[in-house]
Amino acid sequence: MPKTAYINNKYVNFKNAKIHIEDRGLQFADSVYEVIAVLNGNLIDLDFHLKRLRYSLAELDIKYKFYHNDLKKIFLKLLNKNNTLNGIIYLQVTRGVQYREHKYEDKITPTLIIYTRNKKFNLPGKNFKGVNTVTHEDLRWKRRDIKTVNLLPNIIAANKAKKMKAYEAILLKNGKVTEGTSSNIWIIKKNNLITHPANTDILKGVTRTSILKIIKKTSLKLVEKSFTHKQLLDADEVFLTSSGSFITPILKIDKKKINNGKIGNITLKLAEMYTKSCMNG
Ligand SMILES: Cc1ncc(COP(=O)(O)O)c(C=O)c1O
Repeated sequence: MPKTAYINNKYVNFKNAKIHIEDRGLQFADSVYEVIAVLNGNLIDLDFHLKRLRYSLAELDIKYKFYHNDLKKIFLKLLNKNNTLNGIIYLQVTRGVQYREHKYEDKITPTLIIYTRNKKFNLPGKNFKGVNTVTHEDLRWKRRDIKTVNLLPNIIAANKAKKMKAYEAILLKNGKVTEGTSSNIWIIKKNNLITHPANTDILKGVTRTSILKIIKKTSLKLVEKSFTHKQLLDADEVFLTSSGSFITPILKIDKKKINNGKIGNITLKLAEMYTKSCMNG
């Protein structure tokens, strides 16, 4: 357990870190968040995370203003206090505390919550793992591009995966793959690397954005286009990306093995390239 959290301008003991029962984050999921990976003390893709945070806040009209460097200082201090060298930073901004009413007050003060957790990542090397997945209907709302804590449909699907001893659930809308419950999904077919376009149907993953840069250094052809359940099962290789999972190969989807249940060469190469870019800071 971490020692320290940060709530509304104060470093507090993690065990006593509390927010008010009328916080709108609790009552309405009126709240946005980010999860930032920390690898060897490096804050991975911090600029992209803070840019997406600004986007989510603006889309929901949550009036939380911040300076990049102020948040970075808090992150570094918390990492230090919690002895986190490898792990994640969790940040949440709720609209704030108010008497319970769907409509929010203009002058409400947002609640800021930040803490860190140690985590071991799945990185290329001798322990690099591929995972099993299941498919599940995408039950979410129509603004998946906003990173809100409104995550119940994701939780339902993720727990179906857990019951089936799978790592992730891949979400399907009208026979097409949108993304995972907490990851973006990619398929490789011949020389094509295919992933869902970054529109309102998915979260534009920060890891996804970084991978798009990396593949410019390869001969792969990027196709940002939605793909079907059948294309998913027929793919040469499949992998998922997220700040918590980096690039993680998918070896099985429901009962279908992908690439004979082995980590594919292209996935491995991309994972190596991405990890190297993270290590270099
Ligand atoms: C629904 C969803 N899609 C995609 C992602 C991957 O995003 P990122 O790479 O920014 O972690 C996440 C991360 O939590 C997610 O919740």
